[in-house]
Amino acid sequence: MSEPKTEPLESQPNRSQVQLAGATPATTPASRETASVPASPTASAAAQASEPDRLLLEEIRQLGPWHMNIQLTESVFTGEAFASGGAIRDRERNKGVSLLNLRGYFLGKLRQLYPAGVASKTLLDCACNAGGYCFWAREAGMESAFGFDVRDHWIKQAKFVQGHRTVASTDRIEFQVCDLYRLPERGCSPADITMFKGIFYHLPDPVTGLKIAADLTREVMFFNTSTVWGEPDGYLKCGRESRENLMSGVHGLKWYATGPKVLSDILKWCGFVDRRLMFSVQQHDQPQLGRVEIIASKVPGLLDSIGGEILV
Ligand SMILES: C[S@@+](CC[C@H](N)C(=O)[O-])C[C@H]1O[C@@H](n2cnc3c(N)ncnc32)[C@H](O)[C@@H]1O
Repeated sequence: MSEPKTEPLESQPNRSQVQLAGATPATTPASRETASVPASPTASAAAQASEPDRLLLEEIRQLGPWHMNIQLTESVFTGEAFASGGAIRDRERNKGVSLLNLRGYFLGKLRQLYPAGVASKTLLDCACNAGGYCFWAREAGMESAFGFDVRDHWIKQAKFVQGHRTVASTDRIEFQVCDLYRLPERGCSPADITMFKGIFYHLPDPVTGLKIAADLTREVMFFNTSTVWGEPDGYLKCGRESRENLMSGVHGLKWYATGPKVLSDILKWCGFVDRRLMFSVQQHDQPQLGRVEIIASKVPGLLDSIGGEILV
């Protein structure tokens, strides 16, 4: 098994403004966006690919659109099948889906949180999409990972990656198609670390949804959501959304938080004694919206090394 390559770009949605830069400048998402990667088709890369790589790339294309750039083999990444650098921020160029490099940021935060390693830890990834965090968790040495998503499209991708990723272990990872609200029926064991990214604002009852995930979390939650931008913090704002869009929810009703404070209050109520704001930023392509990332812990002191702004 070879070492996964360093990604060409650590990507989050572009942000034009950082509102609460509690994190040190080096860790704010804006400063990580070092270069804009052209979303050009990779025809020339495909032309140079070996026959096995060409077949793999073709299968990847058939399974598209993809949201997560995940390395499969020494030379094949899911995102590279669509764009040089494996990232497309312009959703219109990828069937309404942004294609992102998320691995480096996640692994960096894990190292900060658990400097002695994550060997005995388990991961729960809510709305896992193509399963990237589960694969990177195992790559980091975690004991096991479980990911679920309401859409078969994404779980098919996750299982495809599991079958073809040779650069790190893919055993002890399980994926299921499941609606978050049906998760309690599955009788899952609690996990040490939970991903709750990109799902809060796709739920008709986000507090109940978050509580379901929180009750299955022993230590830490990585929480990330879209928010409205420019309105007073402290509220949830109702909206409607497509049930069909691959990146949306399936219930038609959504709630945007108006800022990190209301989210911190909800996370606190869910049992997370410490909460750190990693960023709260305006979205470049939809300036009426923002994006908030919070890392929350049930274990006092666990976030001391993580940086960010302490949320009360
Ligand atoms: C914006 S994407 C976020 C994907 C991934 N978590 C990430 O951070 O990149 C939203 C994901 O949530 C999934 N999803 C939406 N509603 C869900 C629900 N009720 N239960 C489980 N997954 C859901 C969608 O299918 C989609 O994969």
